[in-house]
Amino acid sequence: MELDSCIKGRRSVRCFADKPVSKEQIEAILEAGTWAPTAMSREPWRFIIIEDKKLISYVSEETKVAVQQMMPPLAERYKTKDDIICYNAPVLVLICAEKDPQWTTMNLVDSALAAQNMFLKAYELGLGTCYMGFVSLLSSKPEILKKIGVPENCDLMVPFILGHPETKQGAGKRKKTNMLKWIK
Ligand SMILES: Cc1cc2nc3c(=O)[nH]c(=O)nc-3n(C[C@H](O)[C@H](O)[C@H](O)COP(=O)(O)O)c2cc1C
Repeated sequence: MELDSCIKGRRSVRCFADKPVSKEQIEAILEAGTWAPTAMSREPWRFIIIEDKKLISYVSEETKVAVQQMMPPLAERYKTKDDIICYNAPVLVLICAEKDPQWTTMNLVDSALAAQNMFLKAYELGLGTCYMGFVSLLSSKPEILKKIGVPENCDLMVPFILGHPETKQGAGKRKKTNMLKWIK
């Protein structure tokens, strides 16, 4: 796929077909992640793949609770029984990094860069992804992290969902007003 159409065509997907993603596709997406730039060549990312529907639903339910506890203005909206967190996606990917207080910020940047590579690779393969910012709220709940496979020595950095899009995504939109200064 041509790079420009890949960058501009990718959209966050929140509606998935009930169809598994193949092992080969998941492996290709993980490999794309590992070609991202990485501070001091540390390659801190450690990937956890969750395909267990019950566990993904558990993540959604616990995340809704966390939103209600930690983001009061959104509390009412997140009392719903609908899965407005992981959107019933067939795969949840957790990009983690080994804990190291001096490297936490770099680890997050590395993980986010890896995630964008993975989003673009998934799009090239006809798959959809969406960054799960709210799921990061679970970072402060060690007992939940343990249940979803995050080892004690790792931080949860970037969670995202993956699956076959149910519908074709529309065109995206971006603001044109992002230039602040161009100093020559
Ligand atoms: C740091 C970050 C956190 C996000 N968290 C969520 C989230 O919790 N739930 C969600 O549905 N989308 C989430 N998104 C996706 C954004 O809503 C989406 O990228 C944005 O609306 C632009 O749309 P596009 O990705 O289709 O271009 C997040 C994106 C980023 C970069």
